Amino acid sequence: MLKLMRFYAPRGLKLVKGEGQYVWDSEGRKYLDCHTAHGVGFLGHRNPYVIKSIKEQLERIMIASPTFDTEIMEESIKLLEKILPKNHTYFYMLNGGAEGIELALKTARRVTGKKKFISFINAFHGRSMGALAVTWNPRYRAGYDPFPWNVDFLPYNRVDVLEKKIDEDVAAIIVEPVQGEGGLAVASKEFLRSIRDSCDRVGALMIIDEIQSGFGRTGILWAHMRAETQPDIMVAGKCIGGGFPLSVVSFSEEIGAKLGIGAHGSTFGGNPMALAAMKGGIETLMKEAVVEKAKKMGETIKDMLEKIVEEYPRLVRRVKGLGLMIGLELRFNPTKALRILQSKYVLALRAGLNVLRFLPPYLISMSDVKSLEEALHETFREIEGRA
Ligand SMILES: Cc1ncc(COP(=O)(O)O)c(C=O)c1O
Repeated sequence: MLKLMRFYAPRGLKLVKGEGQYVWDSEGRKYLDCHTAHGVGFLGHRNPYVIKSIKEQLERIMIASPTFDTEIMEESIKLLEKILPKNHTYFYMLNGGAEGIELALKTARRVTGKKKFISFINAFHGRSMGALAVTWNPRYRAGYDPFPWNVDFLPYNRVDVLEKKIDEDVAAIIVEPVQGEGGLAVASKEFLRSIRDSCDRVGALMIIDEIQSGFGRTGILWAHMRAETQPDIMVAGKCIGGGFPLSVVSFSEEIGAKLGIGAHGSTFGGNPMALAAMKGGIETLMKEAVVEKAKKMGETIKDMLEKIVEEYPRLVRRVKGLGLMIGLELRFNPTKALRILQSKYVLALRAGLNVLRFLPPYLISMSDVKSLEEALHETFREIEGRA
């Protein structure tokens, strides 16, 4: 019998339907989705803008390489211009996060002529060889060496260490403004600014990985903008296509202008269906006050989680994350908590070794937060043995 490679531990749940912030299983049970396929569903399941845009595109043209001009590409450029960092004048589209990271790293390598990168402890940038080279987790790296570049992993949020360790050999520093898979650490503004300054000092590029944190999820359009820094390259992915697989890499004028024909490519990158999905995603962002709602609901969830921390100090250490990229640092492995939460109709995921992570859609309501709170109480009471 043909078997699916189980790279992700099975949850024992067959999903048959998704709508907004909810999914339903094959038994008809409804779940609050704070997993959203690793954050992809931030704009909600079956987002109406995305569905409409994809349907319209299906009636026009499905297949066209970016070597040809299309209406949907022209529309996409106009929309992207409204949301990408102001100093970014070039972009390229690919099919997933890691692919976007590959382009960012390749660009740094080619443009600077240097071969060394700086990344951070607990960083996650994807599973392809370049992205894995700058991903910290030894479990993901085991058995795949040698990696293409020499990478220094420095402690996150340590300006003093960064300033000491950076040198003229560094091609780029790559950083997540909020670490996703690694445990929801939030970069300080000072840290992000010091990355920018350090890069300028040694002629390195600053690459911002907004694949998980971007597109409004943290309550600001791009999470690095809290520090008012301007990266040379930014990578966005996950939710930007409302569920359709795509990523966007954007470049400053100076860097983008240095890469010409033949420097990169992808058969499916920037195909009309992905562009249409992204158009629906950006329209949602602009018309539905997504960023403001994510900020407000992020604060509501944070307040609720703070009370949970107070109530279960023996189980929970603190709240981590920003906006709707939020979680609880536990004093134990989160697997059991995830399983119990699922039985209480909440889907969540882990981050790092001990963080229970919630990546809900921006549509999460006050009554959903109440349900989440009740599910958490029941879960922790059960774990404490006082259910
Ligand atoms: C910050 C970050 N970078 C890169 C990636 C890799 O993206 P993908 O799985 O789409 O290749 C992820 C995925 O979780 C991510 O969270």
